[in-house]
Amino acid sequence: MTILERKRVGILTGGGDCPGLNAVIRAATKSAIHLGFEVLGFLRGFEGLADPVTYMPLTIENTMNILDQGGTILGSTNKGRFTVKTGVDDTRCLDPSLVAAVKRNLLDLDVDALVCVGGDGTLSIAQQLFEQGVPVVGVPKTIDNDLGATAFTFGFDSAVACAADALDRLHTTAASHERVMVLEVMGRHAGWIALHAGLAGGGDVILIPEIAWSIENVCAKILQRQNMGKRFTLIVVAEGAKLPGGKLVTLESPSEQKQTRLGGIGQWVANQIQTRMQLDTRCVVLGHLQRGGRPTYFDRCLSTQYGSHAIRLIEEHRFGEMVCYDPPNITNVPIRQAVKQLSCVDPYGSAVQAARAMAVSFGDSPAFTNPFPKSKIAEATYVEKFNVSIASVSQYLDDHE
Ligand code: F6P
Repeated sequence: MTILERKRVGILTGGGDCPGLNAVIRAATKSAIHLGFEVLGFLRGFEGLADPVTYMPLTIENTMNILDQGGTILGSTNKGRFTVKTGVDDTRCLDPSLVAAVKRNLLDLDVDALVCVGGDGTLSIAQQLFEQGVPVVGVPKTIDNDLGATAFTFGFDSAVACAADALDRLHTTAASHERVMVLEVMGRHAGWIALHAGLAGGGDVILIPEIAWSIENVCAKILQRQNMGKRFTLIVVAEGAKLPGGKLVTLESPSEQKQTRLGGIGQWVANQIQTRMQLDTRCVVLGHLQRGGRPTYFDRCLSTQYGSHAIRLIEEHRFGEMVCYDPPNITNVPIRQAVKQLSCVDPYGSAVQAARAMAVSFGDSPAFTNPFPKSKIAEATYVEKFNVSIASVSQYLDDHE
């Protein structure tokens, strides 16, 4: 096809909703129209592509004023006929009759290329369609930030802003009432939201799926704080932080058509602290508040660049590729690379190191843990560089003598 021909581009949003979806739709639509393309938006994710086909033409007019709107004007679903992933390691093949229906419908509608906006599940479906001859490009979305091959998915920054704001608010009650406050945040497989919100909101304990923890160590941290005169503690726990012993806390049993609903680990932690330490402890589950509402300015900016780069990929016929953020550049990688492996928190990465230097406990040790295991840093450097208290540094040095 030459660029003089009028192309028709389809776009769909799949998986859980997320701040920034509308910003991507707007950016992709505007960029496509500027190149002379027509745009169709398929409704309710991939469902809109199979019989009965449901779509709406996207124009400059009907994508106006949606840059800052949460949700998706196209609708979305994270369950149904197209579900190929319900866990990390269980990818199924798409039903061949669905693939045939998608191909036929795209042909009937003269759609030359499809932009699939979604996380691991949506992009795994997109990859399978690509392997069967459908010209797709991907855009990485998820508040969990657990998609491989990109530094950030859009939606993550907005979720962190929401969780950090919740921590700021909980801080005041915790301090006023001398309580332990536990905040449960989203993050099925990865603790990015808990880690970044904990850093931004001054959490004292952060529990994430990537670092094995024990309730004894969490209690030891609370005690240590009490001994230093700090009579409250803020705990952030990711919904996917496994119980000591490795089990997840879930709200329902697994099903073939959708992923298991996680939830309850925060209350479990709160109950344990209350019982073991006789401390006034409360749990708040932030839930879907993290997925709703207006995207942050960072997410609007990222989503706009992602949406426009997706159209560039179509213009260049780079099908099977996903836009990604490789700071400072927006670039692209094969979708297969992004869905090959989830992006999880590196337990030795810089964010965890910084948190440990702030005396944050990850529940993996009863004492202050060396944030920089490979280097020997003198006490003075510690205090000066990272502004941690002499007491915690002395404690650390004692423990590691
Ligand atoms: O994948 C994004 C996510 O928000 C997870 O963090 C969470 O476990 C899941 O979606 C919740 O999905 P649902 O809206 O179906 O309950």
